[in-house]
Amino acid sequence: MHDFLRDLPKVELHLHIEGSLEPELMFALAQRNGIDLPYATVQEAKNAYLFSNLQEFLALYFQGMNVLRKEEDFYDLAMDYFKRARGEGVVHIDMHFDPQAHLQRGVPLDVVMSGLLKAKQVAAETLDLTIGLIMAFLRDRPAEEALHVLEQAAPYWKMLDAIGLDSAEQNNPPAKFVDLFNRAKQLGLVRVAHAGEEGPAEYINEALDILDVQRIDHGVRCLESDEVVARLRREQIVLTVCPLSNVSLKVVENLRDHPLPKLLAEGLKVTISSDDPAYFGGGMLSNHMACAEAFGWDKSVFRQLTFNAIDEAFVTNDRREELR
Ligand code: ADE
Ligand code: ZN
Repeated sequence: MHDFLRDLPKVELHLHIEGSLEPELMFALAQRNGIDLPYATVQEAKNAYLFSNLQEFLALYFQGMNVLRKEEDFYDLAMDYFKRARGEGVVHIDMHFDPQAHLQRGVPLDVVMSGLLKAKQVAAETLDLTIGLIMAFLRDRPAEEALHVLEQAAPYWKMLDAIGLDSAEQNNPPAKFVDLFNRAKQLGLVRVAHAGEEGPAEYINEALDILDVQRIDHGVRCLESDEVVARLRREQIVLTVCPLSNVSLKVVENLRDHPLPKLLAEGLKVTISSDDPAYFGGGMLSNHMACAEAFGWDKSVFRQLTFNAIDEAFVTNDRREELR
């Protein structure tokens, strides 16, 4: 099964590039930029990656990305993950990035964008790996700030595949961002949002109704509402489920309790992604292997999950045909 899953050309729809920052690279970039880290060693950083919830993780996630200062840091960050993912059989990644988290630290948007865009180009040319770009907005920050950043990003609108909504979900309902998502729609930008990770099933409905999103990131708590499940099935909305993330952030106690088999049995359009692979115990291959072990799925299940992701990926029609 390991070799089959490694060789299966996999498509990842939910990956925060800042969450792919391995401690080894964090140390190298800290040294390059003359930044002190709160850890003495790589092992000490890894030992700190134990979380009780999303909020605890986000604190270390934002702290870790403080080493990203220059264009080449963003380029190195992305290439480091792209090479690793390609080695695990990944052929396309829809990649979230968090501009506000960098702007807040005084890192200009042009620095972030030029580093990531260059990595995207080099990945296509040298790795046969295609990349979709999702500019994500932090839902625990003011809605006006998000709108301002979207306007500031005007030179890059045509390079974005979508906007997204991430960070602390509880008490930050999708409706808070109605103006942002309306503006994105007016600009012709596709929309996605995290919903039903830690927040209630109702947030999934809200993201679909009020933000008019095309896919739901996570969405595992949909099972708390028969009505939401029925809708997701009827409309065949893709859920980008991140099994190891859900275990790390205690959305579920352990993988055997994960609702993935139930989601599939309900006829939902499920896909598997890694979310923040440097923090949650591994990338696409680890997530697939963990599911094979926990659920005993056969090859046909993984093929179906991959078809679901190919259907939804932000790729050209030619590339989609190539991936099928
Ligand atoms: N940002 C990075 N990872 C995230 C996650 N799992 N949920 C919400 N926001 C995030
Ligand atoms: Zn996420």
